Formats: sequence, structure tokens, C-alpha cells
Amino acid sequence: MITHIAVLGAGTMGFSIAKLFAEHHYSVALYEPFSLQAARERISQEALSIHLVSELEEAVSNADLVIECAPETMEIKQPLYRQLTTLLKQEAIVASNTSTFSLQQLADGLPYADRIVIAHFFNPAHLIPLVELVGLANTRPGILEVLAELLRQMGKAPVVLSKDIPGFIANRLQAALLREANFLLENGIAGAEEIDSVVSNGLGLRWALRGPFQIADLGGLDIWSKVTGHLFPALNNGTEPPASMINHIARGELGVKSGGGYYTYSQQEHANGQMMKELQQLLAYMKHKEENDNGI
Ligand SMILES: NC(=O)c1ccc[n+]([C@@H]2O[C@H](COP(=O)([O-])OP(=O)(O)OC[C@H]3O[C@@H](n4cnc5c(N)ncnc54)[C@H](O)[C@@H]3O)[C@@H](O)[C@H]2O)c1
Repeated sequence: MITHIAVLGAGTMGFSIAKLFAEHHYSVALYEPFSLQAARERISQEALSIHLVSELEEAVSNADLVIECAPETMEIKQPLYRQLTTLLKQEAIVASNTSTFSLQQLADGLPYADRIVIAHFFNPAHLIPLVELVGLANTRPGILEVLAELLRQMGKAPVVLSKDIPGFIANRLQAALLREANFLLENGIAGAEEIDSVVSNGLGLRWALRGPFQIADLGGLDIWSKVTGHLFPALNNGTEPPASMINHIARGELGVKSGGGYYTYSQQEHANGQMMKELQQLLAYMKHKEENDNGI
């Protein structure tokens, strides 16, 4: 039974995953080796029941589930996983929140390789329902099912992948869209505002309710086979990061956090807070709709 959770890294993802579990009354230890003060302030501002620690052993020695949210570099993740070898409880499950590394890369050579999986949350993790779960052929039977059930009980929507593939599902779909969006921008077809409007006022509204296969079924597969047959040859199939993005980076424009990217921002906190507020409203609406649809 999973009751004690250790989250490693109190950054963007680690903090919101710790918050999610704490709000569902799990015992949560949050390990942060560097930015302790910032995490301490947020915990007290939000009155969360999270035990913040700076020692790895203290965080994991009692944990049934360890969720790793350290920075996305092997130079940090690998030594951290090796350190866990002597600290973990016998049956503890380790889940990585990595966005890009394959599970095979992370598990390679670890004595607990059959107990490590990927649980890929989405930012903000306490709000977005989707969590992608990935195991390997030698993952202990039942681990993914236990995690999926645990997540479902917290109102999450876990999706278990049958194979370990870079980017899992959501980031592959997202990257494919971003490649084409940048192609349209760079070729002067439309500006960032127009392209964003096509998604937020059109495609995205349908996607909040139905996935691509449901939409294909609704439109008719005979129609969609023609659409894809005509359009696929015209789509961008580049393999480098988009030039427009690289150009922004070269000018020090990293997006909201630097005050500008594709758009300019006056206040970082405001831009992030606004998105969070709108997301909460959208999720509340969708919950309300689902309850009405189900006649609750
Ligand atoms: N940001 C996102 O939208 C997002 C979404 C899904 C998954 N992820 C993945 O989640 C992980 C964390 O990303 P993030 O955006 O929260 O990063 P972040 O940089 O905001 O936070 C990382 C935290 O880990 C701490 N840290 C550094 N070394 C550590 C160590 N040895 N052990 C434990 N903690 C350590 C850092 O001090 C920092 O507080 C990455 O693997 C990333 O790819 C990120």
C-alpha cells in the first residue's frame, strides 16, 4: 500500500506534484538540495502539509513511492538514481517525471531496474489530469496498475503506454504541432497571434473534448484520408529546432521568464497566474459538463 511519498526536487514540477499528494492527504516528503528557502515560503503561503528536507536519506528511507523531479540532465539524474540504491525501502517504487529520457536509459544498470517507471505529469501537475505511465518488459507486474489506480483516486487520468518511446505521446503530438506552427510563422503565412488564435479559438476547443481519432471518426475517415493524403506531402518534416525559436534565444528572449519571446510580457507572475486561473475555470466547466452529461 502506498502512503508515504517522496518527491525529489522542489522546482516547477516537484512542488506541484508534492502539493497534489499533500492535498489528497498522503504523507509527503519533498527533497530539495538547493532552493530550500523558496520552497519553504510557498509551503507556508499555501498552508500545505509537506515535510521539506535537504537530506535525501530523510526523504526516501520511509517512502513507498519516490517521484524524481530533478533537472532534465543525465549528469544530475544518474548520480541521484545511484544514491537511491542504498536508501530505498525494499519494495519502494521509483517514478521519474522525465520529459525526454527513455526509461531504458534511466533504468540501465540499477539494481532496482524492475521497480522504476516513468510517471510523466503535466505542468501544472496539481491541475492537469493527464499522467503518462511507462514501464519496461521487466517491470514488476502490477506496478503500473497500482500507480494508475492511485492516480485515478486523486482525479487524474493516467494513460499507460505499451512501449518506451522518447517524448511519450503528448510531447510528440505537441512537438509535431509546434514544428508546423513555426513553419507557418517562418514562411510568413501568418503571425504568432493568428496561429495561436487558430488553436485557442478553433482546434483546441474541439481537442478539449475529443481526441484526433474521435474527430476523424466524426468527420468521416474517407474525408480524412483525402485530407491527409493531400496535406502530408506539404507539411514541414524538419529535424532541427525551429529557426525562429533559436533567433529569439540568441537575443536573450526566452519567453515569459525573460519578459519576452514570441510575445512581450510585463509581469512574469501575472502571465503564469492568468493561465492558471483560466485553466482552473476550464477544468471546473468540464467537470460540471461531465456531471450534467452523466445526470449527476
Ligand atoms: N516544467 C515542465 O513543464 C515539465 C513538465 C513535465 C515534466 N518535466 C520534467 O520534470 C523534471 C523537473 O523539471 P522542472 O521543470 O520541475 O525543473 P526545475 O528546474 O523547475 O526544478 C528542478 C529542481 O530540482 C532541484 N535539484 C537540483 N539537483 C537536484 C538533485 N540532485 N536532486 C534533487 N533535486 C535537485 C533544483 O534545485 C530544482 O529546484 C525534469 O525531468 C523535466 O523534464 C517538466
